[in-house]
Amino acid sequence: MDYSKIINKALGSVRPVFRLHWYHGAHGIAHWSRVWYHGRRIARAIDVNPAILAWFAYLHDSQRHNEYSDPLHGKRAVDFALQLRKEGTIT
Ligand SMILES: [Fe+2]
Repeated sequence: MDYSKIINKALGSVRPVFRLHWYHGAHGIAHWSRVWYHGRRIARAIDVNPAILAWFAYLHDSQRHNEYSDPLHGKRAVDFALQLRKEGTIT
Protein backbone atom coordinates (compact mmCIF):
# COMPACT_ATOMS: atom_id res chain seq x y z
CA MET A 1 0.00 0.00 0.00
CA ASP A 2 1.23 3.47 -0.87
CA TYR A 3 0.82 5.98 1.94
CA SER A 4 2.55 8.84 0.13
CA LYS A 5 -0.74 10.71 -0.37
CA ILE A 6 -1.37 10.72 3.39
CA ILE A 7 2.20 11.76 4.11
CA ASN A 8 2.06 14.54 1.52
CA LYS A 9 -1.23 15.80 2.96
CA ALA A 10 0.16 15.69 6.48
CA LEU A 11 3.35 17.52 5.51
CA GLY A 12 1.39 20.07 3.51
CA SER A 13 -0.70 20.79 6.61
CA VAL A 14 2.23 20.89 9.02
CA ARG A 15 4.68 22.91 6.95
CA PRO A 16 2.89 26.29 7.26
CA VAL A 17 2.50 26.01 11.04
CA PHE A 18 5.69 24.24 12.16
CA ARG A 19 7.81 26.47 14.40
CA LEU A 20 11.04 24.44 14.57
CA HIS A 21 13.79 23.41 12.15
CA TRP A 22 12.23 21.27 9.43
CA TYR A 23 15.41 19.35 8.50
CA HIS A 24 17.88 19.84 11.32
CA GLY A 25 15.72 19.80 14.43
CA ALA A 26 15.45 16.82 16.74
CA HIS A 27 11.70 16.74 16.08
CA GLY A 28 11.64 17.49 12.35
CA ILE A 29 11.11 15.48 9.20
CA ALA A 30 13.89 12.96 9.84
CA HIS A 31 12.42 12.09 13.24
CA TRP A 32 8.91 11.80 11.82
CA SER A 33 10.20 9.49 9.07
CA ARG A 34 11.76 7.26 11.70
CA VAL A 35 8.49 7.23 13.64
CA TRP A 36 6.70 6.23 10.43
CA TYR A 37 9.24 3.47 9.76
CA HIS A 38 8.70 1.97 13.21
CA GLY A 39 4.97 2.69 13.08
CA ARG A 40 4.60 0.52 9.97
CA ARG A 41 6.32 -2.33 11.80
CA ILE A 42 3.98 -1.90 14.77
CA ALA A 43 0.96 -1.77 12.46
CA ARG A 44 1.95 -5.09 10.88
CA ALA A 45 2.57 -6.70 14.26
CA ILE A 46 -0.72 -5.72 15.89
CA ASP A 47 -2.98 -5.44 12.84
CA VAL A 48 -3.62 -1.69 12.99
CA ASN A 49 -4.42 0.37 9.90
CA PRO A 50 -1.06 1.91 8.93
CA ALA A 51 -2.84 5.07 7.80
CA ILE A 52 -3.47 5.92 11.45
CA LEU A 53 0.22 5.60 12.21
CA ALA A 54 1.17 7.62 9.13
CA TRP A 55 -0.94 10.52 10.37
CA PHE A 56 0.47 10.07 13.87
CA ALA A 57 4.07 10.00 12.67
CA TYR A 58 3.79 13.25 10.75
CA LEU A 59 1.48 15.17 13.10
CA HIS A 60 2.54 14.23 16.62
CA ASP A 61 5.27 16.88 16.93
CA SER A 62 3.66 19.39 14.59
CA GLN A 63 2.65 21.77 17.37
CA ARG A 64 5.89 21.84 19.35
CA HIS A 65 6.97 25.23 20.56
CA ASN A 66 10.50 24.08 21.28
CA GLU A 67 12.80 21.05 21.01
CA TYR A 68 12.99 20.45 24.75
CA SER A 69 10.33 20.43 27.44
CA ASP A 70 6.96 21.12 25.90
CA PRO A 71 4.45 19.01 27.82
CA LEU A 72 1.42 20.40 25.99
CA HIS A 73 2.66 19.67 22.47
CA GLY A 74 0.73 16.40 22.35
CA LYS A 75 -2.53 18.05 23.34
CA ARG A 76 -2.00 20.76 20.73
CA ALA A 77 -1.23 18.08 18.13
CA VAL A 78 -4.49 16.30 18.99
CA ASP A 79 -6.40 19.56 18.55
CA PHE A 80 -4.61 20.12 15.22
CA ALA A 81 -5.50 16.62 14.04
CA LEU A 82 -9.13 17.13 15.05
CA GLN A 83 -9.16 20.40 13.13
CA LEU A 84 -7.76 18.61 10.04
CA ARG A 85 -10.42 15.95 10.41
CA LYS A 86 -13.18 18.55 10.73
CA GLU A 87 -11.89 20.35 7.62
CA GLY A 88 -11.82 17.10 5.66
CA THR A 89 -8.04 16.87 5.30
CA ILE A 90 -8.00 13.68 7.34
CA THR A 91 -10.59 11.33 5.88
FE1 LIG B 1 8.30 12.80 18.31
